[in-house]
Amino acid sequence: MDITILGIESSCDDTSAAVLRGTTLLSNVIANQDVHMKYGGVIPELASRAHQQNIIPVVDAALKGAGITADEIDGIAFTRGPGLLGSLLVGVSFAKGLAIAKDIPLIEINHLQGHILSHFIDLPDREVPHPAFPFLCLLVSGGHTQIVLVRDHLDMEIIGSTIDDAAGEAFDKCAKVMNLPYPGGPVIDRLAKEGDPKRFKFAKPNVDGYDFSFSGLKTSFLYFLRDEMAANPNFIEENKADLCASLQHTIIQILITKLTKAAKAYEINNIAIAGGVSANSGLRTAIAEEGRKRDWKTFIPEFKFTTDNAAMIGITGYFHYLRDEFASLDVAPVARAAEL
Ligand code: KG4
Ligand code: ZN
Repeated sequence: MDITILGIESSCDDTSAAVLRGTTLLSNVIANQDVHMKYGGVIPELASRAHQQNIIPVVDAALKGAGITADEIDGIAFTRGPGLLGSLLVGVSFAKGLAIAKDIPLIEINHLQGHILSHFIDLPDREVPHPAFPFLCLLVSGGHTQIVLVRDHLDMEIIGSTIDDAAGEAFDKCAKVMNLPYPGGPVIDRLAKEGDPKRFKFAKPNVDGYDFSFSGLKTSFLYFLRDEMAANPNFIEENKADLCASLQHTIIQILITKLTKAAKAYEINNIAIAGGVSANSGLRTAIAEEGRKRDWKTFIPEFKFTTDNAAMIGITGYFHYLRDEFASLDVAPVARAAEL
C-alpha cells in the first residue's frame, strides 16, 4: 500500500491537518480563527493560543475523517516556515511530540512550496489536472508575491518577487482603509462583482525584471480616498463597488503584466497560480482569458486549496518522503523564507 502522510499547517491564523495516501487526499480539516476579526488583522499572540486549543481536535478530526489511527501514519509533514513564530511553534511542537510517541519520521515543509505543490493533490472522486514541468507559478498570498520557475516537484527557482507589500496585503490594507472586515481580499472580490473596474485609475508600479511592488498603489489609493472624502464624507459608502472593482482590476493587471513578461522570456506555456489571492474570481478569470489569448495551458487551483491548508503540506511531505528527506528532532521553526 502507498505511504500515508499526516500534514500539519499552523503558520498564520488557520489550524489545519490533512491525511494523504500517496498523492490522494483522504481528509483536510481547517479551523479558522474568528478571534482576529474584531482587530482588523492577525494578532500573533492570540493566533498561537488559538492554535494550541485547536491542534489536537483538528488532527483528531483529520485522522477520523481519513478512517485511520495514528499508528498508520508513515510520515508527519509540518510547516517549518515562513510564518508567525509563535503559531509555527505550536505545529512544530505537536509534530515532534507525535513523532516521538509513535516513532514516525518528521518532514519539514516550506509553506510556499506547499502552496505551489497543491496542484499535485489528487482527489479520491475526481481527476485533477497537474501541470507538466517546467511551469511558471504565480504565487500570491498574504505574505508573498512571487513568480516561481518550477522544474520539478522540489526543484524551484524564484525569478521575481515583491519588493514591498504582497498582493494579498494590498487587498487587505486597502480594504481596511474602506472600513471593510479582515481579511479584505474575499470581501473586495465579492463587492467588485457589482462595480465598474475602469471607473477609477490608480498608480501602477515601474519595477525592473519580474519583481512586483504594491506600496505605490496602496498610497495612491489612500490619497485618492482622503481627497474624495474631504469633499464628500459618503464617498466610500456611495462608490464601494466601483472602488473595489477598480482596485482589484489594477492588482490583477500588475500581476498579469509580469507573469506574461516572464512566460515570454522563459518560453514557458504551462502557467499556474497558487496562494490565497488565487481564490480571487477576477484573477482566476483573467488568467484563463490570458491563457486562451496566449496559448497557455493554465492551472487554476481547486478553491479549497488556495488559502492555507494542510493538504498542500501533506503532498509536499509525500515528495520529500520519496527522497528520504527527513527532519531531525531538534528542528526549529523559522519566520522568514530566506532562513529555510
Ligand atoms: O495563502 P494565504 O491563505 O495565507 C498566506 O500564506 O499569506 O493568503 C491569505 C491572503 C489574504 O491576504 C487574503 O485577503 C487573500 O489571501 N485572499 C484573497 C481572496 N481570498 C483570500 N484575495 C483576493 N480575493 C480573494 N477571493
Ligand atoms: Zn499561505
